[in-house]
Amino acid sequence: MSPPLVLALETSCDETAAAVMEGATRLRGSAVASQAATHSVYGGVVPEVASREHLSRWQGVVGEVLAQSDCRLSDIDAFAGTTGPGLASALLVGCSAAKGLALACGRPFIAVNHIEGHLLSPFFGDEEIPAATALVVSGGHTLLVDIEGAGRYRLLGRTLDDAAGEAFDKVAKLLGLGYPGGPPVEEAARRGDAARFALPRSMKCSGDHDFSFSGLKTAVRYLLPQTAEGDTDDLCAGFQEAVVDVLVHKAVRAARQCRRRLIAVSGGVGLNRRLRERLEEAARGEGIAVRFAEPWLCTDNAAMVAYAAAQRRRNDGRDELGVDISPSLGADLFAAA
Ligand code: KG4
Ligand code: ZN
Repeated sequence: MSPPLVLALETSCDETAAAVMEGATRLRGSAVASQAATHSVYGGVVPEVASREHLSRWQGVVGEVLAQSDCRLSDIDAFAGTTGPGLASALLVGCSAAKGLALACGRPFIAVNHIEGHLLSPFFGDEEIPAATALVVSGGHTLLVDIEGAGRYRLLGRTLDDAAGEAFDKVAKLLGLGYPGGPPVEEAARRGDAARFALPRSMKCSGDHDFSFSGLKTAVRYLLPQTAEGDTDDLCAGFQEAVVDVLVHKAVRAARQCRRRLIAVSGGVGLNRRLRERLEEAARGEGIAVRFAEPWLCTDNAAMVAYAAAQRRRNDGRDELGVDISPSLGADLFAAA
C-alpha cells in the first residue's frame, strides 16, 4: 500500500498556497499564489484585502496541485490546514476550505500550526526529525526552539516585540525600498559599509534566549534626519549586520547550552545570505552543523504544512474538524515539551 496522500492549504498571511504530499518523503505538487504585489502599494499586508484574495484564489491553487500530482480529490486521504498563528480573516479562508473538502470527501482534517511548518521545513522530505536547535525567523515570528524530535518541542525564547523580518520590512518602508523589505535591504547592504553607523544589538547579552528588534528600527528612524539618500546602502548594511549579529550569537549560544550539534534555520529571513554566511562560520567554530530550509521553503508555502501534517503520526486517524483557528501564537505547539 502506498503512503497516504495529504492535501494541505496555507492562507495564514498573504500567500495562498496548496500542496500534496505522499507520506513524509514525496512531494507530489506545490503551488503558491503570492499577493505581495497587491499589498506592496500599502507597505504591508492589509488583512481584509488578504482574505478576499485568498477567497478568489484557493480553488485555483488546489486545482493546480491536483493536476501536478496527477490525482483527484477522491484520491486524497487527509486534508490539512493552517489553523494559526496568522491573520484571523485569512486563516479562516484556507481552514474552512480544507475542512469543507474533508467533509465532502469523508476524510479527516488535520490542524497544523504554522510555526511547526516553518520549524520542520529544514528537514523537508526526511522520514525522521533529528534533535536540533531551531531558529525560526520570519515576518511574523522570531523564535529559538529546542527540538527533540517530531512533536517534541521546547520554546527557548522569542522576540518581545518585532519579528526579525518585520524589522527588515519596517526599515525598508522608512527608506522607501518597498515591501517585502528583506530582499531590497539585503541588496543595498551588499553595497554599503556596515561599520559606518553604530546601531544597537538589543538583548545580545541578555543571558536568556529572547530577542528585541523594535529599538533597532527606531534607531534607524532617528538617524534618518541626519542622512541623505546616498547613505541608504550604509544604513541597510549597518541594520542588517546588527540583526544578523544578534541572531547568530543567540542561536549558537542556545545550541551550546542545549548540547545540540545541529542548528536548523527556517522562515523568510533564512534567505538572507549574510545570515547564512555568518551563522555557518560561527557554528563551524563550535563544531555545530547548520541546516537551512531550502530557499523555496523559507517563505510561506503549503508544502511545509503538508510535511508537518505527515510528521504528526500521533494524530493518525484522529479527526480535528473541531479545532478552530487561533490567530495568536499557538502555545499548544510547545505544551507537550
Ligand atoms: O516566512 P515568511 O513568508 O513570513 C511569515 O511567515 O511571517 O517571511 C517573510 C519575511 C518578510 O518579513 C521578508 O522581508 C523577510 O521574510 N525576508 C528577508 C529576506 N527575504 C525575505 N529578510 C532578510 N533578508 C532576505 N533576503
Ligand atoms: Zn510564515
